[in-house]
Amino acid sequence: MEMKIGVIKGDGIGPEIVDEALKVLDRIAAVYGHSFSYTQLLMGGASIDVNGVPLTEETLEEAKRSDAVLMGSIGGDAKTSPWYQLEPSKRPEAGLLQLRKGLNLFANLRPAVLYEELKGACPLKEEIADKGFDMMIMRELTGGLYFGKRSTEKVDGVLVAKDELTYSEEEIRRIAKRGFDIAMKRRRKVTSVDKANVLDSSRLWRKVVEEVAADYPEVTLEHMLVDNCAMQLVKDPAQFDVILTENMFGDILSDEASMVTGSIGMLSSASLNDTKFGLYEPSGGSAPDIAGKGIANPIATILSAAMMLRYSFDLDTEADAIERAVSLALKDGYRTADIMSEGKTQVGTKEMGSRICEYINSESEE
Ligand code: IPM
Ligand code: MG
Repeated sequence: MEMKIGVIKGDGIGPEIVDEALKVLDRIAAVYGHSFSYTQLLMGGASIDVNGVPLTEETLEEAKRSDAVLMGSIGGDAKTSPWYQLEPSKRPEAGLLQLRKGLNLFANLRPAVLYEELKGACPLKEEIADKGFDMMIMRELTGGLYFGKRSTEKVDGVLVAKDELTYSEEEIRRIAKRGFDIAMKRRRKVTSVDKANVLDSSRLWRKVVEEVAADYPEVTLEHMLVDNCAMQLVKDPAQFDVILTENMFGDILSDEASMVTGSIGMLSSASLNDTKFGLYEPSGGSAPDIAGKGIANPIATILSAAMMLRYSFDLDTEADAIERAVSLALKDGYRTADIMSEGKTQVGTKEMGSRICEYINSESEE
Protein backbone atom coordinates (compact mmCIF):
# COMPACT_ATOMS: atom_id res chain seq x y z
CA MET A 1 0.00 0.00 0.00
CA GLU A 2 1.27 3.47 -0.93
CA MET A 3 0.37 6.23 1.49
CA LYS A 4 1.17 9.90 1.67
CA ILE A 5 1.59 11.04 5.26
CA GLY A 6 1.77 14.69 6.31
CA VAL A 7 4.15 15.10 9.25
CA ILE A 8 3.92 17.94 11.74
CA LYS A 9 6.88 17.55 14.07
CA GLY A 10 5.94 20.72 15.92
CA ASP A 11 7.58 22.21 18.99
CA GLY A 12 9.32 21.09 22.17
CA ILE A 13 9.76 17.32 22.28
CA GLY A 14 7.66 17.01 19.07
CA PRO A 15 10.54 16.45 16.61
CA GLU A 16 12.22 13.81 18.84
CA ILE A 17 9.11 11.73 19.44
CA VAL A 18 7.89 11.96 15.84
CA ASP A 19 11.28 10.72 14.55
CA GLU A 20 10.80 7.52 16.55
CA ALA A 21 7.28 7.02 15.21
CA LEU A 22 8.61 7.45 11.65
CA LYS A 23 11.31 4.88 12.41
CA VAL A 24 8.58 2.45 13.48
CA LEU A 25 6.50 3.22 10.37
CA ASP A 26 9.55 2.60 8.18
CA ARG A 27 10.02 -0.74 9.91
CA ILE A 28 6.38 -1.64 9.27
CA ALA A 29 6.75 -0.58 5.62
CA ALA A 30 9.84 -2.79 5.22
CA VAL A 31 8.41 -5.82 6.99
CA TYR A 32 4.92 -5.74 5.47
CA GLY A 33 5.81 -4.34 2.03
CA HIS A 34 4.22 -0.88 2.10
CA SER A 35 5.48 2.48 0.96
CA PHE A 36 4.92 5.52 3.16
CA SER A 37 6.04 8.93 1.94
CA TYR A 38 6.34 11.85 4.35
CA THR A 39 5.72 15.54 3.70
CA GLN A 40 6.94 17.86 6.46
CA LEU A 41 4.36 20.47 7.46
CA LEU A 42 4.87 23.46 9.75
CA MET A 43 2.31 24.23 12.43
CA GLY A 44 2.34 25.91 15.83
CA GLY A 45 5.41 27.74 17.10
CA ALA A 46 7.64 26.33 14.35
CA SER A 47 5.31 27.92 11.78
CA ILE A 48 5.18 31.25 13.67
CA ASP A 49 8.99 31.39 13.54
CA VAL A 50 9.04 30.90 9.75
CA ASN A 51 5.70 32.31 8.53
CA GLY A 52 4.58 34.62 11.31
CA VAL A 53 1.35 32.65 11.77
CA PRO A 54 0.72 29.23 13.42
CA LEU A 55 -0.94 27.73 10.31
CA THR A 56 -0.83 28.90 6.71
CA GLU A 57 -3.47 28.24 4.07
CA GLU A 58 -0.86 26.28 2.04
CA THR A 59 -0.12 23.99 4.98
CA LEU A 60 -3.82 23.31 5.46
CA GLU A 61 -4.16 22.51 1.75
CA GLU A 62 -1.11 20.24 1.86
CA ALA A 63 -2.60 18.45 4.90
CA LYS A 64 -5.82 17.93 2.91
CA ARG A 65 -3.83 16.32 0.09
CA SER A 66 -2.32 13.78 2.52
CA ASP A 67 -3.91 10.44 3.36
CA ALA A 68 -3.32 11.16 7.06
CA VAL A 69 -1.30 13.50 9.25
CA LEU A 70 0.99 12.45 12.07
CA MET A 71 1.74 15.17 14.58
CA GLY A 72 4.09 15.57 17.54
CA SER A 73 3.13 18.44 19.79
CA ILE A 74 2.92 22.20 19.61
CA GLY A 75 3.41 25.15 21.93
CA GLY A 76 6.07 26.35 24.32
CA ASP A 77 6.50 27.71 27.81
CA ALA A 78 3.79 30.38 28.17
CA LYS A 79 5.97 32.40 30.58
CA THR A 80 9.16 32.55 28.56
CA SER A 81 8.33 31.88 24.91
CA PRO A 82 7.89 34.93 22.63
CA TRP A 83 4.97 33.12 20.94
CA TYR A 84 2.86 34.01 23.95
CA GLN A 85 3.47 37.74 23.51
CA LEU A 86 1.25 37.47 20.42
CA GLU A 87 -2.50 37.91 20.63
CA PRO A 88 -4.37 34.63 21.39
CA SER A 89 -5.52 34.09 17.79
CA LYS A 90 -1.87 34.06 16.59
CA ARG A 91 -0.42 31.68 19.21
CA PRO A 92 0.58 28.04 18.53
CA GLU A 93 -2.67 26.58 19.94
CA ALA A 94 -4.73 28.66 17.51
CA GLY A 95 -3.01 26.79 14.65
CA LEU A 96 -4.17 23.48 16.08
CA LEU A 97 -7.76 24.70 16.40
CA GLN A 98 -7.71 26.05 12.82
CA LEU A 99 -6.35 22.73 11.60
CA ARG A 100 -9.06 20.75 13.43
CA LYS A 101 -11.78 23.01 12.04
CA GLY A 102 -10.24 23.26 8.55
CA LEU A 103 -10.07 19.47 8.27
CA ASN A 104 -13.50 19.02 9.91
CA LEU A 105 -12.01 16.66 12.52
CA PHE A 106 -15.08 16.40 14.71
CA ALA A 107 -14.36 13.02 16.33
CA ASN A 108 -11.47 12.81 18.75
CA LEU A 109 -10.61 9.35 20.07
CA ARG A 110 -8.49 9.23 23.21
CA PRO A 111 -7.91 5.74 24.55
CA ALA A 112 -6.86 5.44 28.19
CA VAL A 113 -5.52 2.01 29.04
CA LEU A 114 -3.76 0.80 32.15
CA TYR A 115 -0.93 -1.46 30.94
CA GLU A 116 -0.37 -4.50 33.13
CA GLU A 117 3.36 -3.70 33.15
CA LEU A 118 2.76 -0.13 34.35
CA LYS A 119 0.32 -0.78 37.17
CA GLY A 120 2.94 0.44 39.61
CA ALA A 121 2.82 3.91 38.01
CA CYS A 122 -0.95 4.22 38.48
CA PRO A 123 -1.63 6.77 41.25
CA LEU A 124 -4.87 5.06 42.31
CA LYS A 125 -5.28 2.69 45.25
CA GLU A 126 -3.93 -0.78 44.60
CA GLU A 127 -7.33 -2.47 44.73
CA ILE A 128 -8.58 -0.08 42.04
CA ALA A 129 -5.47 -0.42 39.83
CA ASP A 130 -5.65 -4.20 40.15
CA LYS A 131 -8.99 -4.24 38.34
CA GLY A 132 -7.30 -2.46 35.39
CA PHE A 133 -9.18 -0.31 32.88
CA ASP A 134 -9.47 0.21 29.16
CA MET A 135 -11.64 3.10 28.03
CA MET A 136 -12.07 5.21 24.92
CA ILE A 137 -12.88 8.86 25.37
CA MET A 138 -14.80 10.16 22.35
CA ARG A 139 -14.52 13.92 22.44
CA GLU A 140 -16.46 16.21 20.08
CA LEU A 141 -13.72 18.40 18.63
CA THR A 142 -15.08 21.14 16.38
CA GLY A 143 -17.97 22.65 18.33
CA GLY A 144 -18.93 23.99 21.73
CA LEU A 145 -17.01 26.59 23.70
CA TYR A 146 -13.87 26.19 21.61
CA PHE A 147 -15.51 27.55 18.48
CA GLY A 148 -18.26 29.84 19.78
CA LYS A 149 -18.17 33.62 19.56
CA ARG A 150 -16.06 35.26 22.22
CA SER A 151 -15.52 38.82 23.31
CA THR A 152 -14.11 40.97 26.07
CA GLU A 153 -15.60 44.40 26.41
CA LYS A 154 -16.31 47.08 28.93
CA VAL A 155 -19.92 47.29 30.06
CA ASP A 156 -20.64 50.29 32.29
CA GLY A 157 -16.93 50.63 32.97
CA VAL A 158 -16.50 46.97 33.99
CA LEU A 159 -14.67 44.39 31.85
CA VAL A 160 -16.96 41.54 30.81
CA ALA A 161 -15.79 38.43 28.92
CA LYS A 162 -18.13 36.10 27.01
CA ASP A 163 -17.64 32.63 25.47
CA GLU A 164 -20.57 31.11 23.61
CA LEU A 165 -21.41 27.39 23.81
CA THR A 166 -23.41 26.19 20.82
CA TYR A 167 -24.27 22.68 19.61
CA SER A 168 -26.60 21.74 16.79
CA GLU A 169 -28.47 18.43 16.58
CA GLU A 170 -26.34 17.46 13.59
CA GLU A 171 -23.08 18.08 15.40
CA ILE A 172 -24.25 15.91 18.30
CA ARG A 173 -25.70 13.18 16.09
CA ARG A 174 -22.53 12.60 14.04
CA ILE A 175 -20.25 12.26 17.07
CA ALA A 176 -22.81 10.10 18.89
CA LYS A 177 -22.97 7.73 15.90
CA ARG A 178 -19.20 7.45 15.91
CA GLY A 179 -19.29 6.71 19.65
CA PHE A 180 -21.80 3.91 19.22
CA ASP A 181 -19.95 2.49 16.20
CA ILE A 182 -16.76 2.30 18.26
CA ALA A 183 -18.65 0.79 21.21
CA MET A 184 -19.93 -1.99 18.91
CA LYS A 185 -16.29 -3.00 18.34
CA ARG A 186 -15.53 -2.87 22.06
CA ARG A 187 -17.53 -3.84 25.17
CA ARG A 188 -20.76 -2.25 23.92
CA LYS A 189 -21.26 0.34 26.60
CA VAL A 190 -21.55 4.11 26.10
CA THR A 191 -21.43 6.58 28.98
CA SER A 192 -22.63 9.91 27.64
CA VAL A 193 -21.30 12.74 29.80
CA ASP A 194 -23.04 16.10 30.08
CA LYS A 195 -24.29 18.75 32.50
CA ALA A 196 -27.98 18.32 31.72
CA ASN A 197 -29.00 19.53 35.17
CA VAL A 198 -27.80 23.03 34.18
CA LEU A 199 -27.08 23.51 30.46
CA ASP A 200 -29.49 23.62 27.51
CA SER A 201 -26.74 22.36 25.20
CA SER A 202 -26.43 19.30 27.47
CA ARG A 203 -30.18 18.67 27.45
CA LEU A 204 -30.11 18.65 23.64
CA TRP A 205 -27.01 16.43 23.79
CA ARG A 206 -28.87 13.89 25.93
CA LYS A 207 -31.97 13.91 23.70
CA VAL A 208 -30.00 13.35 20.49
CA VAL A 209 -27.76 10.68 22.05
CA GLU A 210 -30.92 8.80 23.09
CA GLU A 211 -32.28 9.00 19.54
CA VAL A 212 -29.03 7.61 18.15
CA ALA A 213 -28.96 4.87 20.81
CA ALA A 214 -32.28 3.53 19.47
CA ASP A 215 -30.37 2.36 16.36
CA TYR A 216 -27.89 0.41 18.50
CA PRO A 217 -29.98 -1.97 20.63
CA GLU A 218 -26.92 -4.04 21.55
CA VAL A 219 -25.19 -1.10 23.17
CA THR A 220 -25.97 -0.14 26.76
CA LEU A 221 -26.29 3.61 27.19
CA GLU A 222 -25.96 5.47 30.46
CA HIS A 223 -25.90 9.21 31.12
CA MET A 224 -23.55 10.73 33.65
CA LEU A 225 -23.11 14.29 34.83
CA VAL A 226 -19.62 15.59 34.19
CA ASP A 227 -18.78 16.34 37.83
CA ASN A 228 -19.76 12.81 38.80
CA CYS A 229 -17.72 11.43 35.88
CA ALA A 230 -14.63 13.28 37.12
CA MET A 231 -15.13 11.52 40.45
CA GLN A 232 -15.90 8.07 38.98
CA LEU A 233 -12.70 8.17 36.91
CA VAL A 234 -10.62 7.95 40.07
CA LYS A 235 -13.08 5.87 42.08
CA ASP A 236 -13.91 3.11 39.61
CA PRO A 237 -12.37 3.61 36.14
CA ALA A 238 -13.04 -0.03 35.21
CA GLN A 239 -16.75 0.79 34.76
CA PHE A 240 -16.07 2.78 31.56
CA ASP A 241 -15.94 1.52 27.99
CA VAL A 242 -16.75 4.47 25.68
CA ILE A 243 -17.12 7.91 27.23
CA LEU A 244 -18.96 10.19 24.80
CA THR A 245 -18.78 13.89 25.51
CA GLU A 246 -18.57 17.44 24.20
CA ASN A 247 -15.42 19.40 23.48
CA MET A 248 -14.57 21.13 26.77
CA PHE A 249 -15.65 18.27 29.05
CA GLY A 250 -13.63 15.90 26.86
CA ASP A 251 -10.55 18.09 27.11
CA ILE A 252 -10.67 18.02 30.89
CA LEU A 253 -11.73 14.40 31.39
CA SER A 254 -9.13 13.07 28.93
CA ASP A 255 -6.31 14.68 30.89
CA GLU A 256 -7.70 13.16 34.06
CA ALA A 257 -8.07 9.74 32.43
CA SER A 258 -4.52 9.91 31.11
CA MET A 259 -3.11 10.69 34.53
CA VAL A 260 -4.66 7.62 36.10
CA THR A 261 -2.88 5.45 33.53
CA GLY A 262 0.39 6.54 35.13
CA SER A 263 1.90 8.63 32.35
CA ILE A 264 0.56 10.97 29.71
CA GLY A 265 3.57 9.84 27.63
CA MET A 266 1.72 6.59 26.86
CA LEU A 267 -1.50 7.95 25.39
CA SER A 268 -2.25 8.17 21.70
CA SER A 269 -5.12 9.95 19.98
CA ALA A 270 -6.90 10.15 16.65
CA SER A 271 -8.98 13.01 15.26
CA LEU A 272 -11.27 11.93 12.45
CA ASN A 273 -13.70 13.48 9.97
CA ASP A 274 -16.28 11.64 7.91
CA THR A 275 -13.72 10.31 5.43
CA LYS A 276 -10.80 7.96 6.06
CA PHE A 277 -8.54 10.93 6.73
CA GLY A 278 -7.28 11.48 10.28
CA LEU A 279 -4.85 13.51 12.35
CA TYR A 280 -2.89 11.40 14.83
CA GLU A 281 -1.06 12.81 17.81
CA PRO A 282 0.04 11.94 21.32
CA SER A 283 -2.25 13.30 24.03
CA GLY A 284 0.61 14.91 25.92
CA GLY A 285 1.98 18.40 25.36
CA SER A 286 5.28 19.70 23.99
CA ALA A 287 7.09 19.45 27.37
CA PRO A 288 9.53 22.31 26.66
CA ASP A 289 11.36 21.58 29.94
CA ILE A 290 12.75 18.30 28.60
CA ALA A 291 12.92 19.17 24.88
CA GLY A 292 16.16 18.24 23.12
CA LYS A 293 17.41 16.07 25.99
CA GLY A 294 16.60 12.76 24.32
CA ILE A 295 14.61 11.50 27.31
CA ALA A 296 10.99 12.03 26.21
CA ASN A 297 8.74 9.00 25.94
CA PRO A 298 7.96 8.31 22.25
CA ILE A 299 5.39 5.57 22.96
CA ALA A 300 2.27 7.78 22.72
CA THR A 301 3.39 8.96 19.26
CA ILE A 302 4.26 5.43 18.16
CA LEU A 303 0.83 4.24 19.32
CA SER A 304 -0.73 7.18 17.45
CA ALA A 305 1.00 5.92 14.30
CA ALA A 306 -0.62 2.53 15.03
CA MET A 307 -4.01 4.25 15.25
CA MET A 308 -3.29 5.86 11.87
CA LEU A 309 -2.66 2.45 10.32
CA ARG A 310 -5.85 1.11 11.88
CA TYR A 311 -8.32 3.93 11.25
CA SER A 312 -7.07 5.66 8.10
CA PHE A 313 -5.38 2.80 6.22
CA ASP A 314 -7.32 -0.25 7.52
CA LEU A 315 -4.00 -1.99 8.27
CA ASP A 316 -5.16 -3.81 11.40
CA THR A 317 -2.45 -6.49 11.36
CA GLU A 318 0.27 -3.85 11.15
CA ALA A 319 -1.37 -1.76 13.90
CA ASP A 320 -1.56 -4.87 16.09
CA ALA A 321 2.14 -5.51 15.42
CA ILE A 322 3.07 -2.05 16.72
CA GLU A 323 0.90 -2.39 19.81
CA ARG A 324 2.34 -5.82 20.53
CA ALA A 325 5.89 -4.50 20.07
CA VAL A 326 5.20 -1.73 22.62
CA SER A 327 3.89 -4.28 25.12
CA LEU A 328 6.92 -6.51 24.56
CA ALA A 329 9.34 -3.63 25.10
CA LEU A 330 7.59 -2.85 28.38
CA LYS A 331 7.47 -6.51 29.38
CA ASP A 332 11.22 -6.80 28.82
CA GLY A 333 11.71 -3.94 31.24
CA TYR A 334 12.56 -1.01 28.98
CA ARG A 335 11.37 2.30 30.40
CA THR A 336 11.80 5.97 29.60
CA ALA A 337 12.36 8.28 32.58
CA ASP A 338 8.66 9.15 33.04
CA ILE A 339 7.66 5.51 33.60
CA MET A 340 10.87 4.28 35.22
CA SER A 341 10.65 2.08 38.30
CA GLU A 342 13.07 0.00 40.34
CA GLY A 343 14.73 -2.93 38.62
CA LYS A 344 13.85 -1.75 35.11
CA THR A 345 16.19 -0.61 32.33
CA GLN A 346 16.07 3.11 31.67
CA VAL A 347 16.42 4.08 28.01
CA GLY A 348 16.26 7.34 26.07
CA THR A 349 13.83 8.37 23.33
CA LYS A 350 15.86 6.87 20.46
CA GLU A 351 16.62 3.59 22.18
CA MET A 352 12.96 3.08 23.04
CA GLY A 353 12.09 3.61 19.36
CA SER A 354 14.78 1.17 18.24
CA ARG A 355 13.73 -1.48 20.75
CA ILE A 356 10.14 -1.30 19.56
CA CYS A 357 11.34 -1.66 15.93
CA GLU A 358 13.27 -4.80 16.83
CA TYR A 359 10.18 -6.46 18.26
CA ILE A 360 8.29 -5.78 15.05
CA ASN A 361 11.03 -7.55 13.13
CA SER A 362 11.25 -10.60 15.36
CA GLU A 363 7.50 -11.11 15.56
CA SER A 364 7.10 -11.15 11.80
CA GLU A 365 9.93 -13.66 11.37
CA GLU A 366 8.39 -16.20 13.69
C1 IPM B 1 -5.74 19.06 23.76
C2 IPM B 1 -5.10 20.37 24.11
C3 IPM B 1 -5.69 21.46 23.24
C4 IPM B 1 -7.19 21.51 23.53
C5 IPM B 1 -5.04 22.83 23.40
C6 IPM B 1 -3.56 22.78 23.11
C7 IPM B 1 -5.70 23.90 22.58
O1 IPM B 1 -5.26 20.64 25.47
O2 IPM B 1 -5.60 18.62 22.60
O3 IPM B 1 -6.38 18.47 24.63
O4 IPM B 1 -7.61 22.15 24.49
O5 IPM B 1 -7.93 20.89 22.78
MG1 MG C 1 -6.19 19.10 26.56
